[in-house]
Amino acid sequence: MEQKRRVFSGIQPSGNLHLGNYLGAINNWVRMQEEYDNYFCIVDLHALTVPQEPEELSRKVREVAAVYLASGLDPERCVIFRQSRVSEHAELSWLLNCVARYGELSRMTQFKDKAQKGGAEVASAGLFDYPVLMAADILLYNAHAVPVGEDQRQHLELTRTIARRFNHDYGETFVVPEPMILTTGARVMSLDEPKEKMSKSSPRPGSYISILDEPDKVRKKIRRAKTDSGSEIIATEDKPAIANLLGVYAGMTGEKIPEVERRYEGKGYGDFKKDLGEVVAEGLAPIRERTLELLDDPAELDRLLDAGAEKAREVAHPNLLRTWERMGLG
Ligand code: TYM
Repeated sequence: MEQKRRVFSGIQPSGNLHLGNYLGAINNWVRMQEEYDNYFCIVDLHALTVPQEPEELSRKVREVAAVYLASGLDPERCVIFRQSRVSEHAELSWLLNCVARYGELSRMTQFKDKAQKGGAEVASAGLFDYPVLMAADILLYNAHAVPVGEDQRQHLELTRTIARRFNHDYGETFVVPEPMILTTGARVMSLDEPKEKMSKSSPRPGSYISILDEPDKVRKKIRRAKTDSGSEIIATEDKPAIANLLGVYAGMTGEKIPEVERRYEGKGYGDFKKDLGEVVAEGLAPIRERTLELLDDPAELDRLLDAGAEKAREVAHPNLLRTWERMGLG
C-alpha cells in the first residue's frame, strides 16, 4: 500500500478558540484527515511564551482536545496529543536553536508585533525563540504538509530554511515541509476592526466569535459587526469588512465567495448579516454542544491525550536519535 503523506499542525491552548482558528485550521484538518497520516498537537509549551494562569492552562488543554474531537477529528485517523508530553519537541528545539540564526528570528513579524505591544525588553526569551520550537514540532515528524492560517506563513518559511540548512550541513535528515494555506478562511479579521486579524488574545469580546459562544451571542456579534460604506455585498479592497464577512460565509458553507456574492445581489447588509448569523450560529452549535459533553469526562480526554503522546513518541524518538547522530551526539 502506498504510504500516506504526513500532516502536522497545532494550536495554542491560550485564550478563546475562535472562528479564525476553526476556518483557518481545524475545519481543513477535518476535511483532509482521510487522505493523510495526521498529527495534531496542543502546543502547551508555546502557550508559556506569554504569562498563563497555571490552572487555566490545564483547563484549556482539555478544551482544545475536546474542540478537536467535537469538530470531527477522528482519533482513529489522527494522533492527538500535548506537546509537553513528548519531550523530544523541547530537545529537538535546542538542537535547532543552534542551526537557526539570531538575525532570522529578529525578522519574524509576529515577534516584532507582540514585543512592540508589551515592550521587547520584557518579552520572554521563549517568545523570541518560539518559531524554532514550531520548526522542531514539524521536523520531528518529517511532516510533508502543514495546514495553517496565513499568519503562520513566515514561521513555516523559517522551518523550511532550518530544514534545508540542517540537511546541507549534516546530510539529508529532514523532510522540507510545504505550507497548506487556503484562499478562503486563512485570514479571518476582527468583526469590529477588519484591518486587524481575529485574535485569541483580544481584550474585546465583540471582535471575535468564540467556537464556544452560545448561538444567540454569535448572532448578536454578527449583527453588530462593522460594515463598510455603500450597500453592495461584494468582496472588494475598499470593502474590508464585507469582504471578511463574505469570507466567513464561504468558509462556513464551503462555497466560493463569488457564489455568495451572486446570491446577495440587490440585497442589503441587514439581510446578509442576518443570514450569516444563522450560518455561523448553526454551524458552531453542534461543535459547542459536543465539546461541553466531552468536557464532562476529563479523565477520558486525558486518556486520549496520553495514548496520543505514546503514538507520537514512536515517531519522534527515532527522529531525535538520528538528529543526535548527525550532529555528533550519537
Ligand atoms: P495559533 O494557536 O495562534 O493558531 C492556531 C491556528 O489558527 C490559525 N489562525 C487563523 N486562521 C485564520 N484567521 C485567523 N484570524 C487566525 N488566527 C489564527 C493559525 O494560523 C493556526 O493555524 N504557532 C502556532 C501553533 C503551532 C504550530 C506548530 C502550527 C505550534 N507549532 C506546528 C503548525 C505546525 C500558533 O500560534 O497558532
